[in-house]
Amino acid sequence: MYIVKIGGSVITEKSRYRKMRENVISRLADEFIPEDSILIHGAGSFGHYIADKFNLNDGLGDSNRIEYARVALDLQELNSAIIRALIEREKPAITIPVHSFHMVGEEFPHRRFKDYMERGIVPVTYGDVVLDPRKGMGICSGDQIAFHLSKALRPDKVIFVTDVDGIYDRNPKIYGDAKLLGEVSGKEKLNFSGTVPDVTGSMEGKLRVMRAIAKLGIEVMVINGLVRGRLRRAMRGEDVKGTRVLA
Ligand SMILES: Nc1ncnc2c1ncn2[C@@H]1O[C@H](COP(=O)(O)OP(=O)(O)O)[C@@H](O)[C@H]1O
Ligand SMILES: [Mg+2]
Repeated sequence: MYIVKIGGSVITEKSRYRKMRENVISRLADEFIPEDSILIHGAGSFGHYIADKFNLNDGLGDSNRIEYARVALDLQELNSAIIRALIEREKPAITIPVHSFHMVGEEFPHRRFKDYMERGIVPVTYGDVVLDPRKGMGICSGDQIAFHLSKALRPDKVIFVTDVDGIYDRNPKIYGDAKLLGEVSGKEKLNFSGTVPDVTGSMEGKLRVMRAIAKLGIEVMVINGLVRGRLRRAMRGEDVKGTRVLA
């Protein structure tokens, strides 16, 4: 069983509000192997833009209810495009939206994911707004969901799909001479500065989640979804350029 998390940076243009990359969504839907897999996607410019501007991660206040509702709608629209792309390719996929069933602090309801998988249907979920017992509402990132589901369901492999080849010693979008690391074990001195706003931690947050998954004894890697064929090869278990994260 595989868990695949496709970053918002891949399926949207992160710096333009609500801008999908339709051709990338189509190609990744082609490459995605539906058997015994869960798909999680990020929000990109369908989430981070409003979340950042109205501080949705700080909780529900008197003035930001409408923004929570708007982000939830925007994310549903992005999600629909992904589900549609899969169904057009005869890959049966159904959405399980986190905001409708999860409260931060409660056990993540993984059972329903398994129920769909056992019936040959790909459960799809995404980084979303969520109920929070302390601050009213908050945000649960796709990366965090990948951890919750990994802990509960123990997949054979977790694949993070992002917009760069893997983890570098520093941000490759800023430093042309940044070095790609084939493996990261946590001992390396890495620099993560200088990215587009991402309320859920960007590559640094992703590495934290990936290490937590590796500690469960699960194989975990990050690959570039903007390069044709990498997701397909990774899902086939073939060797592919990227970074493996070790415990
Ligand atoms: N040391 C680093 N190695 C790789 N990427 C980095 C690093 N530091 C910052 N980044 C940035 O992290 C981004 C990926 O994180 P993010 O935008 O959150 O992706 P996703 O949408 O997949 O969650 C890359 O586009 C890259 O610019
Ligand atoms: Mg991210």
